[in-house]
Amino acid sequence: MYRTLQALRLARLLPAAKNPNKSWGHVRARTSSASFHLLEDCLELNYEGKPMIFNYVWLRDHCRSESSYNSSTSQRVGDTGSIELSIRPESSAVEDDHLILTWQGGHVSKYRLSWLAENSYEEKKQATVHPRILWNSDIYKNANITSANWEKFMSCDSELKKFLHDYLQYGIAFVDGVPATVEATEAVTQRVSLIRETTYGRMWSFTSDFSRGDTAYSQLALDRHTDTSYFQEPSGIQVFHCLKHEGTGGRTLLVDGFYAAEKLRQRSPESFDLLCRVPISHEYVENTESHRNHIRGVGPILSVYPWNNELFLIRYNNYDRAVINTVPHDTVKRWYEAHRELTSELRRPENELWVKLDPGKVIFIDNWRVLHGRESFSGLRQLCGCYLTRDDVLSTARCFSLLP
Ligand SMILES: [Fe+2]
Repeated sequence: MYRTLQALRLARLLPAAKNPNKSWGHVRARTSSASFHLLEDCLELNYEGKPMIFNYVWLRDHCRSESSYNSSTSQRVGDTGSIELSIRPESSAVEDDHLILTWQGGHVSKYRLSWLAENSYEEKKQATVHPRILWNSDIYKNANITSANWEKFMSCDSELKKFLHDYLQYGIAFVDGVPATVEATEAVTQRVSLIRETTYGRMWSFTSDFSRGDTAYSQLALDRHTDTSYFQEPSGIQVFHCLKHEGTGGRTLLVDGFYAAEKLRQRSPESFDLLCRVPISHEYVENTESHRNHIRGVGPILSVYPWNNELFLIRYNNYDRAVINTVPHDTVKRWYEAHRELTSELRRPENELWVKLDPGKVIFIDNWRVLHGRESFSGLRQLCGCYLTRDDVLSTARCFSLLP
């Protein structure tokens, strides 16, 4: 039964308990843009042509009244543990683009219809959490992304915003004109986020002196990889600044891991799913005179959000991948096949972006998305950098309304 809306766009329903046939499924109310339908344990809403379903406990839990939610701190006040799990509204209405539910005991919850639509599962499963432009070498070069200018970057929010926009889209971004010192590199990174201190320190600066138990501290070429895959939560952002290089070689290799992974998803969805499901360990074992470490992180090569299957993390480091001893042999066989398919995508020459990091050019790399490597080099090469906390970078981006 539909009710017609009046001038106030008001629709009211009889209390459920008074509904003679006790059938929640046949009670409907409608505005020009919304209709709703009360079912046994959930409410069906059709708003602006989009159907969505809200569980009653969810609705009570997300009540935005003062006693349930503190809008000045954006924090829940109500006690979810006290909500009756069989809760149902006693009466319901749509008024002035709001859904109004009255619960047993008289508490009234009021929800903006557009807020419900924005926060529905049906909306979220269609929406992209982090819009990106996936790239191979040509796509990135043709986009003609300009680097931020150091002085403007340090003083002007619009320059920082543009930098973050580019960074979010492509997973890499550059600042040019930075003084070739550790101090200036630290200052430029702190403009973006907090520095994540690790076993390598806050800011690290190294040459090819093998001072740490890691291949990075050599002159050897490094294949594409993500860093700190052995952390349970890998570092969010990698910053590099080449302070000095008197020699040849040493170009930096960049590969968009999500571009390669999406190619794999298109060509071989079962392999993609397997790499999302099988947990793999990475570890860092260091035993030098001055440093002892044994760090281990466990997770799949690819991670996707479970509600929309959007990629958010790739762990790919063949140097640091630990012994696989938690996967049955038949799955291991399939895993190696899937890993080989992903590796082939990552190694396609057209996916490789090579850049020369000269003094003054600071690169920020999304370590959850873009793999890096380098060619071998000769001569003295001094590099500095650090890791940034991902949450704080994304927080800065949200403050600029660059992310939802
Ligand atoms: Fe690395």
